[in-house]
Order: sequence, then structure tokens, then C-alpha cells
Amino acid sequence: MNRQFTRTLVTTALPYANGPVHLGHLAGVYLPADIYVRFNRLRGKDIIHIGGSDEHGVPITITADKEGISPQDVVDRYHTLNLDAFTRCGISFDYYGRTSSKGHFKTAQTFFQEINGKDIFIKKKERHFFDPETKRFLSDRYVTGTCPICKNPEANGDQCEQCGTHLSPRELIDPRSKLSERVPELRETLHWYFPLGRFQERLENYVSGHEDDWRHNVLNYTRTWLKQGLSERAITRDIHWGIPVPLDNEEAKGKVLYVWFDAVLGYISFTREWAEKKCEPELWREYWQNPDCRVIHFIGKDNVVFHTLMFPAILMAWNEGRSDSLYSLADNVPASEFMNFEGRKFSKSRNYAVYLGEFLDRFPADTLRYTIAMNYPENKDSDFSWSDFQNRTNGELADTLGNFIKRSIDFTNVKFNGSIPCECSEEDWGSLGIDWKKSFEKLEKAYEEFHFREAVTLTMQIARSANRYLTDSEPWKVLKTDPDAAARTMALSVNLCYTLAIVWYPVLPHTANRIYEMLGFRETLDEAIKSGNVSWEMAKSPGLGKGHRLSGQSGILFRKIEDKDIAPELEKIERLVAGIERKEKGLGESMNFKPEISFDDFLDVDLRVATVTACEKVKKADKLLKLQLKVGSETRQVLAGIAQSYAPESIIGKNVILVANLAERTIRGELSQGMILAVEGNDGRLNLVEAQGSGINGKIVQ
Ligand code: 2FM
Ligand code: ZN
Repeated sequence: MNRQFTRTLVTTALPYANGPVHLGHLAGVYLPADIYVRFNRLRGKDIIHIGGSDEHGVPITITADKEGISPQDVVDRYHTLNLDAFTRCGISFDYYGRTSSKGHFKTAQTFFQEINGKDIFIKKKERHFFDPETKRFLSDRYVTGTCPICKNPEANGDQCEQCGTHLSPRELIDPRSKLSERVPELRETLHWYFPLGRFQERLENYVSGHEDDWRHNVLNYTRTWLKQGLSERAITRDIHWGIPVPLDNEEAKGKVLYVWFDAVLGYISFTREWAEKKCEPELWREYWQNPDCRVIHFIGKDNVVFHTLMFPAILMAWNEGRSDSLYSLADNVPASEFMNFEGRKFSKSRNYAVYLGEFLDRFPADTLRYTIAMNYPENKDSDFSWSDFQNRTNGELADTLGNFIKRSIDFTNVKFNGSIPCECSEEDWGSLGIDWKKSFEKLEKAYEEFHFREAVTLTMQIARSANRYLTDSEPWKVLKTDPDAAARTMALSVNLCYTLAIVWYPVLPHTANRIYEMLGFRETLDEAIKSGNVSWEMAKSPGLGKGHRLSGQSGILFRKIEDKDIAPELEKIERLVAGIERKEKGLGESMNFKPEISFDDFLDVDLRVATVTACEKVKKADKLLKLQLKVGSETRQVLAGIAQSYAPESIIGKNVILVANLAERTIRGELSQGMILAVEGNDGRLNLVEAQGSGINGKIVQ
């Protein structure tokens, strides 16, 4: 960055609302962005973080088709689920929107009309696959067939999962429609194309202006495209789910905007929605149409060219010939590499993933944030492993940071009546063995240049020095012989707690808030930063004077993770990997049967058919639905962990199988009188076992 900006707009890639976000997403995009934003808020900068759900496109309709529900149900479910997981993880969006919003339809359609009005689009007729049975044009992913390279009979129209080759549907041998299994026909269809080539030179200039500040991976991907020469890209589609092409003519009927044309514009729509919510409807212009505002897009490496070529070209097309309302292009696009999971790629289709919400049901957010930040995939792919998570939590967070804070606060509470016994001198502050000036300079540079792993490592060094200092000073011994020296040690230690609360705030916001509370402040650290009462600068020198009173409270900041806590996770991975390897070797799935039971044991299980009469979500429980069931003349209430697979209203009327003689249990304060049966699919989705046909009122034969 060679120039000074007065504001910063951070955007994060909009995840498709067709599944739960996993740790890979968090590592590459949302956590680094949140750390950066929190650091800048601490520095008193004017910065906003805008994100949201990508609710259009084929990924959504495919999930809807698979689950037999509407695309609207899919996006409603995952938008809520993902926003909730992000919130619990402390990802502090200023606004989290949805591309299904009215405002976003308007933004995307206005951009289309503006560019269309300048005659920039090209219209072309091409032949595409069409399913004669469902009467739908088929996007690439809706066509399957045999891979021309490895002969995999189930290759997708865009890529063969077996050999990894990128394909176009017309290259497949014996193509079939995934909707009807019919052989598709080729039919002519008209589409609008965006002529990227027209912007080639302008894009080259834009990219070369960032040779020194963009990451190598970003420059490399972008340059490869530029070198090949940019060609036109279709920006409309023949699918039924999306934003209609805003033209009132026959040609546009049934066509929607291509999801990538609409998604990137979501950043603008959501900033407008944010401004409206603040009752300052024009404020968004200060971020998008202000050359003094720095725009930064945090994304994963698979999204690079959409953000370095496609989106800038759309904005250039808008700006062309205009003298006002000009949009700024991104000043930086810090794209991450990927984070793997236990040495393998995350794979939603194989359920080889740890989903954020599920993780946070079991472990605290800050321990995850720390481990992930320490493995931030900045220049190369990195890895998340359970043992690394355990070691870092126990050895670094608990034994170093947590240990120091607890000892400092407890000792001051007990031996000095909960208040700082003397002033902390600059000399004592300097005696810690930390070159404060240099450390902060390095730390600030690391954050500013998006080197998050380095920033967190440097921050941990401060905690380590503090912990070592306290151990070496032994105030618990010295107190008897030299109480003044012990008092000085504690004045310094409590001041270090204050510094640590501030410097850890970007990475460990929940912990930082707790430390701040223990230090005796009434407002939260978040509030103090917002109101300007606390800033980054205040971490650089002792800020708490003699007589400052602590809250009197203490506590363990990080609970240690025991082997038994992660054992089920390791077993799960073993099972999944065994399954994947068997599949790769063509051996089929491993069955993993449970130990044998007797015939009588089986007969003891009372299975009944039950009809779902009502169903609702259980508050504050991501996975649970509360079902009312009719079993003959009885009514039962059952809690089932199927909320991520079914919308409550979609299962009313289903005839499910109830284990009727299971002991009652109370789950989250609600009574559960039995269990219902479901089957887990390869994609992790649970499918209810349903009684079919005329037998639904009969007995289950065991
Ligand atoms: O890859 C994805 O998940 C896309 N939904 C990212 C969109 S980023 C931006 F364009 F909104
Ligand atoms: Zn293949």
C-alpha cells in the first residue's frame, strides 16, 4: 500500500448457502478478515466488514433437488445456520446479507441495465444440452456421463471427480441428464456475454499497479488468464433460480443472471443495506465511491480471477463514460491457499470435514481461532489436525497465556487485596527482556501485510516473556523477604495482563474480553474499543496505576483438552479415511458392524410407525427438531437431531419409524419420548426412514 486511505471496506467471499461452512472456509477467509478488522478497529480506523450468503446458482438447485425441497428452503436453512456459526466464532461482520434480498436484485439488475445500455454486452446463440423430459436446459453440473480420459461412468459435466480433468458436457461419452437420466438434446439458446477482452488493457494496467503489494498466488493466477487473452463470458443462464434478466422482451424470458455476475455485486448491495440500517442511506458511497476508501476482498484461491478480473471489469463497465458515481476497484485481494484436514482435502460430498457450528458445540471459539490462525494458509496449503489443536490449546494457550493471567490476577487478589500495589515504572516495563518498540513495529507490519501467522506468533512471544518473568521473579517467595519487590512484580504483571488483553483482542476476542473484565472494568472490551476508551497504542506502556482495583473475579481461561475429548473425532476420521481408501481402491464401503446382539435383544426393541403432526426448531440448538408424533391413539414428543437435514414444516405428515420403548430423556430442557430412525447419506445428510404404502398403520414385523 503506497498511499494513505481514510476508510477501509473489507469484504469476505459470500459462501453458497447450500451447506454448513467448515474449518477450511474459516481458515482461508473469515478468520483472517476478522483478525484484520478487529486489529484496525483497535487502531481507531474507520473500517467495516461486509459479508453474506450467496443464494443463487446451480450449487443451490442441486442441493434442493437432492433433498427434495425448494431452493428457498435450502438457502433459508443454511443462511441462518452459517450466520449463527460465524457469530458464535466471533466473526464480527458489520453486516451479513443475502443475495435473495430485494435490494440486491435491484443492484444486480441496475448494473445489467447500465452495461446493456452502453451496448457493452454481446448477445450470442449457442447450442446447449436440454432435457426433453423436464424441459430444462442443463447446466454443466446437471449432465453426467463417461469421462473421455479415465472412463469413469459417473463424470460430471464440468469435471471428472476420479481423474480431476476439467470437462465440458459435450466431451462426455454417453451424456445423460441428472434430472431424468434421459439422453439430452442440443438446443439453441440465446445468452448475454460480458466481453472481458474489451477491458484487457485496462485490467493489465490495474494488475501491474499492484505488482508490489498483491500476493504471488493472486498475481500468478491473474497473469495466467491475462496472458491467454481474455474472451467473453456468458453472464446469463437458463435456470429457474436466480435474478431475472431485467429486460421486458421475449429474448429475456426465463433467463437469469449468472451467479457470479450477481454474487460479487452482493458486496455493494449489502453495504447499501448496512447504511440503510444505520439510517444513513447514502453512507455506502463513502466506501464504494470514494477514492480515499481502501477496498479489500478476502477470498480463497479458487475465487481469484472473479475478484481480480471479472468484478473489476464489471465496475469498469459501469464507470465507462461516467463522471460521477464511480466505483473503486479493490486495492488488495488477499487470497489464501487451502487448509487441509488431517492431511486430506476437505470434501463436503464425502463428509470429510469439520463443520464450524458442530465444532463450536464442543470446543470454545478462541481455541479454534488460535489454532487456525497459527496454521493460516498464506503462501501454501496448510493442515488442521486434532493433535495440533490439542497441543496448542494445552501448551500455548493454557500453559502460557492462561497460566500467566491466572497467576497474576489470583496473587494480586489474594496478597494485595485486589488492587495494584504500586506504580509500574518505565524501568520495570523495560526490564522484561522485550524490545517493546521493535516488537510492536514488527507486529503492526505483520498485520498490515496480512501475515497473520507471524502476527500471532509475535503476540504469543509477548505472553511467553510475561509468563517467564513471573515465574523467574517468584513473588510468592519474595513477598516474605522483600514485599516491595513482590509489589513491583505484581504491578508489572497486572499491567502486562492489560497489554495482553489488547494485543490478543484481534485473535482471541472472547478471552480478551474476559481478561478485561477480570481487570475490573465495567464496560466490555468491545464497548471500550468502540467508544475509544481503549486503543492499540495503550498496550505499549503500563496503563494501570497504583490503586487500580481488579474485579475480584478470576477463572480458568482455557480448559485443557484431554485425549478422551478428541478420541471420538480421531475414530471418526479413521472410519472416513478407511471408507475413502476402500472406495479409491474400488473395494466399496467398509461396513463397520457393531458387536453381535441376541435375537431376544432385538425383539425387545419396540418399533412403531408414527405420523408427524407438528414440528418446530429447538431454540439455541442447531441440530434439534421437536416433533409431535401420533402413534395409534397416543401422542409422543421426540427430539431428533435432524435440523440440518430437514426444514420443520417439510416433515409434517411423514410416517416415520419410532423406537417406542426407549427410556424418556430431557434434552435441552425438553422431554424426548423415544427416537426415530434415519439413514446418513454419503453427504452427511440424514434421511428419515419412512413407512410406505398400505402398511403404515400395521405392526412392524421383527
Ligand atoms: O465459491 C463460493 O462459495 C462463492 N459463493 C463465492 C462467491 S464470492 C463473491 F463473489 F460473492
Ligand atoms: Zn476421468
